[in-house]
Formats: sequence, structure tokens, C-alpha cells
Amino acid sequence: MTARRPLIAGNWKMYKTVQEARDFAAEILELVDNVTDVDVAICAPFTALPVLKDELEESIVHIGAQNMYFETQGAFTGEISPLMLKDLACTFVILGHSERREYFKEDDVLIAKKVKTALDHGLTPILCVGENLTLRESGQAAAYVREQVEQDIHGLSPEEVKKIVVAYEPIWAIGTGRTASPQDAQDMCAAIRGTLTSLVGAVSSQVRILYGGSVKSGNIAELMSQPDIDGALVGGASLDVQEFAKMIHGVR
Ligand code: PGA
Repeated sequence: MTARRPLIAGNWKMYKTVQEARDFAAEILELVDNVTDVDVAICAPFTALPVLKDELEESIVHIGAQNMYFETQGAFTGEISPLMLKDLACTFVILGHSERREYFKEDDVLIAKKVKTALDHGLTPILCVGENLTLRESGQAAAYVREQVEQDIHGLSPEEVKKIVVAYEPIWAIGTGRTASPQDAQDMCAAIRGTLTSLVGAVSSQVRILYGGSVKSGNIAELMSQPDIDGALVGGASLDVQEFAKMIHGVR
């Protein structure tokens, strides 16, 4: 049995206007206000964060961002700092998402700096790792993801690692409708926990590991019944408030 508290985090990506975010926030609160045994977070575009702060601060729905820079302030045109996220009541921040790695050329050295900075400012990083289809089909997925984890948490103490959330998101399953089988997802999440154990010891048993990639209300329960899967990072299906609420209720 696991003592890790489940976490369902929505990743809105580059969707929702301010008004759409406001409407969603009001509705989700009504739909999940009786939930006490699952952590819920919405990781929204920066422009939606102020309205989520207005609607959700102090509620059971946590607020998160999808990226941040590793400096607190300075001449970094276009970037957002951890202080700014804290100012908007964020408690989570997605870091190292495969879309950031692919389209914005983020590498593990940069991601490691961001993870460390997030922790220094009391934000919980949701660190994303995962292999592409070529690596999966050539049997290199586990080694690749191990390397990502090692580099992205490089230099962190066991106490720091305990506070992060890792999301295993196979790139071939993101937005494709093709979900990893519960067993494959479990195997990789167990491998990630094994990597954490080899790096920082027993605290790895306290780290929450999420699965992400085409999660929806129809498959979330089976994925989350796996021993090393502690929750889900949900993209497309988190945009629909009814579907998101269904997933939250579906894991309880
Ligand atoms: P998806 O995205 O649920 O739309 O596959 C997941 C993610 O990219 O976090």
C-alpha cells in the first residue's frame, strides 16, 4: 500500500482565454468541492494565473504554471520568475515538458537549474521526462529516462528530491490518443523510482510519480491502480471541466 497522496494535475498548454479560465475555475470548484483525498492542480498559461488566483486561492484546487526561468529577476525579456509565480498563488510548476524540450530547445542542464530554483522558492516542480517512439521501439526507453532523471535532479539533496513530483510522459502518447498500457507505464514509473532510490535513497518512496499521455476518465483508474503511479498529468482531457472532474472523482 502506498501512503503517497494522489495528484491529478491539468496541463492546459496554450489554451483558454481569461474568461474561459474564469468560467472553468468557478465550475470545477462546484464539481470537486467535496474532494478531500486527492490533490488537484491546474497548470495554466501565465495570462490565466491572475484569474485563477482570484477564483481558486485557498480552495482545494492548486494553481500551477507550465514553465518559469531560473533567475528571480533581471534582464531576461519574455521570461517569468518564481517570485512572479508565487505572487500569483502558484504552488506547482511544470518543468521540462517534452514540448519545451522539443520546440524551445530546453536541455537537461537548463531544466536542472529550473528545478533547483523552484524548490528554493517553495514551488513544487512537476518534472517531466519521457522517451520518443524511436527510443521506445529500440528498447532504449528506460536508459534514456534514467539519464534524464539523473541530470534533471543533479545536485539535489534527498530532502529536496522528496518534494518534487516526477511525471513520466512518453512522447508518443502525448496528444495522440495512444496511452501506454498500465503495465508499461507502471514499469517505467517503477524504473524512475529505482533511479531515485539509487541517487537519494529511501526518500524515493515518498516521491509522487505521475503518468501523462492521453489520460482520460476512461483509463485513469486502471493507470492509477498501478503501485508506482501516484497520479496523472492530463493535457487535452483537462480542458473540459466535466471530464476533468470525472477524472478526479474516478480515482477515489
Ligand atoms: P495529453 O497531454 O493528455 O493531451 O496527452 C499530456 C501532457 O502533455 O502533459
